[in-house]
Amino acid sequence: MADNRTSDVLIIGSGAAGLTAALNLADRFQVTVLAKGGFNEGSTAHAQGGIAAVLEEGDTFESHIEDTMVAGAGLNDRGTVEFVVENAPAAIERLAQLGVPFTAPSGEEGVKGNGGRWHLTREGGHSHRRIVHVDDATGWAVQDALLKAALAHPNIRMVPDMVAIDLATSRHEQPYSGAGHVWGCYAINRRTGRVELFTARATVLATGGAGRTYLFSTAPKGATGDGIAMAWRAGARVSNMEFMQFHPTCLYNHDVKNFLITEAVRGEGGHLLIPETGHRFMPDFDDRAELAPRDIVARAIDHEIKRLGLDYVHLDISHRDPAFVVAHFPTIYARLLDLGIDMTKQPIPVVPAQHYTCGGVIVDRDGRTDLPGLYAAGEVSQSGLHGANRLASNSLLECFVYGEAVARHIAHCWDDLPPPPPIRPWDESRVTDSDEEVVIKQNWTEIRRFMWNYVGIVRTTKRLERAQTRINMLKEEVADYYGHFRVTPDLVELRNLLQAAELIVRCALERKESRGLHYNADYPDRSLEARDTVLTPA
Ligand code: FAD
Ligand code: SIN
Repeated sequence: MADNRTSDVLIIGSGAAGLTAALNLADRFQVTVLAKGGFNEGSTAHAQGGIAAVLEEGDTFESHIEDTMVAGAGLNDRGTVEFVVENAPAAIERLAQLGVPFTAPSGEEGVKGNGGRWHLTREGGHSHRRIVHVDDATGWAVQDALLKAALAHPNIRMVPDMVAIDLATSRHEQPYSGAGHVWGCYAINRRTGRVELFTARATVLATGGAGRTYLFSTAPKGATGDGIAMAWRAGARVSNMEFMQFHPTCLYNHDVKNFLITEAVRGEGGHLLIPETGHRFMPDFDDRAELAPRDIVARAIDHEIKRLGLDYVHLDISHRDPAFVVAHFPTIYARLLDLGIDMTKQPIPVVPAQHYTCGGVIVDRDGRTDLPGLYAAGEVSQSGLHGANRLASNSLLECFVYGEAVARHIAHCWDDLPPPPPIRPWDESRVTDSDEEVVIKQNWTEIRRFMWNYVGIVRTTKRLERAQTRINMLKEEVADYYGHFRVTPDLVELRNLLQAAELIVRCALERKESRGLHYNADYPDRSLEARDTVLTPA
């Protein structure tokens, strides 16, 4: 029997998007925020580089908009890009007021503007210094400030260890209305193993991306595409899932698999080199060299690794003053030193790894999905900001701008949002405890491996079809497992991971061109017309 927990607004996810929405709603509404583990376990806490905003003297909104559109290979929605870019400086100011200790200028780069208040670093694809940061651990500082504010707010109930399984929709109403509304979600409590029902007038998906569909990813363990899969199963359209961003520089290490080396290392002068010869290869690929957009840098590294049979390439910033390197990258410096690499003296071995999910649940400028009562913000969503390739440090920004937009819309339409009707409790009458947990582990590994090998940086139609065949086989197996055994957090994630993989492959097969992050060797050219890939649930 499920417990019933009702609030005005339910937010699934406690990262930058979820907490921003919560804080902007809580003065007026009772808000519940769910996290599937601890509150700091999403991508937000791992963000290194920073947040993009026009703050430098001489920089303009037009330039940030243009850089975003160029990185996005023309697939971005210009109105959305303008909306986010123009709201960026105010969003940064609000974070500073919340206590985020953005790094001050150290003087050596002559950073101007913004009253000289914050140091602005540079990242690939940006034509200006535009990135505010807290050393090289921006995400941690942002997460910490948002979380402290949320925990202190009397109207926000923070619920950790609660894994949303599926959205509660009209299908679960008693009696059925047919209105297609979303009323909250069913979630499994990790501490008790019981399924609980959370209901609300409005539900916000802020569950982050689907990076863990790939064998190598900088994203944390929980990035299994849960929100995308839940929204899709509930009937919302999903778009542009083929645009999986691979970060060019993830540490290559046998023990530490997902440690990012921030793009700001290249922004501050780091070079990419072939290990044996020391050849700096990026100028061979693009005039912007190491500061080309990520898709170009990642593909160049992939090309060199495959061409020369390498395990990794080198990222080298040892030519810069050691004091500068340590001051700008204290977290990375300390972590690498622990692993025996002194980045002030030695190059860092790096490989590309999955990093960001550009596609997701389709939302409008207010963060509304297709389904009444369901909103989405942050990496789970496809707002039109990123197009075919996200510009560095635009994603935290999107979380803040859309977290606020969602809150604003809910407040504005509150009187039109009906209270939840009675919803059926979770039914466990026909399932038993699993006796074969090994199936889950095996399938997880299999999905992540074929996604890496067949749906990676360079794709072909044949490889995509191979992936699709495997997904079809696994779908039957996972559905059978889900139908017969009591649901567990691992099973929830496996089911979502597989769903996300299917959406990625379907989108990739639909795109008969190469654009931004999607490169298909069978269709190497870019079409004249830029079109989103939109999938509609049957
Ligand atoms: P997240 O922060 O990922 O939070 C997701 C939340 O949803 C978590 O609380 C999780 O517990 C919860 N959740 C998920 N599924 C469920 C479920 N089933 N039930 C209940 N809760 C659930 N972007 C930048 O702009 N600048 C950077 O410098 C930067 N650096 C990055 C570095 C790394 C290593 C990584 C991985 C990403 C980086 N990004 C950066 C991207 C950025 O961090 C993310 O896009 C952003 O933090 C996503 O925030 P979010 O709120 O959408 O989701
Ligand atoms: C990084 O620091 O390189 C990550 C920045 C981002 O993903 O936007």
